[in-house]
Amino acid sequence: NKNRMWSGRFSESTSELVAAFSESVSFDQRLYRQDIAQSTAHARMLARVGVLSTADADAITAGLEQVRDEIERGAFVWKTELEDVHMNIEARLTEIIGDAGKRLHTGRSRNDQVATDIRLYTRDAIDRLLPLIDTLADGLLGLAEAEADSVMPGFTHLQIAQPVTFGHHMLAWREQILRDRSRLVDARARLNVLPLGSAALAGTVYPLDRHYVAEQLGFAAVSENSLDAVSDRDFAIEFCAAAAMILVHLSRWSEELIIWSTPMFGFVSLPDRFCTGSSIMPQKKNPDVPELVRGKTGRVIGDLNALLVLMKGQPLAYNRDNQEDKEPLFDAIDTVTICLRVYAEMVPHIVVRRDACRAAAAKGFSTATDLADYLVGKGLPFRDAHHVVGAVVGYAAQHQRDLAELSLDELRRFSSAIEADVHQHITLEASVSARKTYGGTAPDQVRAAIARARRALAQR
Ligand code: ARG
Repeated sequence: NKNRMWSGRFSESTSELVAAFSESVSFDQRLYRQDIAQSTAHARMLARVGVLSTADADAITAGLEQVRDEIERGAFVWKTELEDVHMNIEARLTEIIGDAGKRLHTGRSRNDQVATDIRLYTRDAIDRLLPLIDTLADGLLGLAEAEADSVMPGFTHLQIAQPVTFGHHMLAWREQILRDRSRLVDARARLNVLPLGSAALAGTVYPLDRHYVAEQLGFAAVSENSLDAVSDRDFAIEFCAAAAMILVHLSRWSEELIIWSTPMFGFVSLPDRFCTGSSIMPQKKNPDVPELVRGKTGRVIGDLNALLVLMKGQPLAYNRDNQEDKEPLFDAIDTVTICLRVYAEMVPHIVVRRDACRAAAAKGFSTATDLADYLVGKGLPFRDAHHVVGAVVGYAAQHQRDLAELSLDELRRFSSAIEADVHQHITLEASVSARKTYGGTAPDQVRAAIARARRALAQR
């Protein structure tokens, strides 16, 4: 095809193989809305600074609206020989409005065009993700409130460590996702800078009003350096890093939900509508949703990795390598979005089996630390108390009994500092309510944390 937009200097047509190899329209057509928005802003600006006539700018604006309508109706014919979304739209625009369409690309290159489109697209994605995170965080807050007093085992090394409250555990998850939220907000601020006006790499001879375009498109600033603006995809990498972190967090929660919902734990049960059965084993109810979230985490880590490696060898300025930024970026956006959607819907409906949680917390000598702290209260140095309680645990384990089941006489064999009030210090409830440090697991602290969270939400 010798009629390509750039084919003036060429003496033979692009090989079919190369055309198929180098096209991006099959995956970048999803940028059409952003592409049309920036072309509209560019045309209006060109008219303002006198590079285009108002009539041409009006024709471009109306023509682009028609193109968008055709795309959204499914009537637009995407052509591989036109390479990418940008040239497809421009070619159709020119079909509709004639010569004015050919003037649109004045003072612009696909290099600053595509950089602008992806920034807009990523920004839109972040703006859709933030409310999903908020819904999820609210769901966790609700669960925390309902389970502020519910005792469960806290684990280290997945061994029973100390009792905690279920509400406290939910607030831990919430902290993670709120940090992820702030990472997206930070990434949004850094990416919200307009590359358009950088042209191919060096800027352009036309008196462009870049600040006007930035304002039209909601960018907070214009880029400072044209070489940098067309070539770096660090904002996409940053987004993928934030997305990967979100999924790593969701994957950790998934791991817990999967373990907790096994009959051996039975701490929670996931709503039937979020589970699937087995085609052979009639009794099965499988936690497929958390498993898939855990599995999809690998993809997004891969997307991040792909972009990092894509970038690392590139000299300034634009290189066609950058066309490869889109599929990983889009995959990361799609994957983190669907995972947050299912979690936002599922989490508030997790059913907590309080009895099973409590029964598990009562095992594994979970209040051994409380016994040591009790002895410290009676004057023993902590290291000595630790040693005494270690011996008590050894004795109890040998006799297959729990700490609370040992009589005062038995306990006193290990230390005469142990007195009749000991048993009230080593109950599960005493244990959690004693952990009153700011940010600790005591139900009062959990309720205080929830109140702080609600105040912060009201101020947002
Ligand atoms: N489809 C290209 C991309 O995604 C658009 C920019 C092409 N620029 C060029 N000089 N070939 O990066």
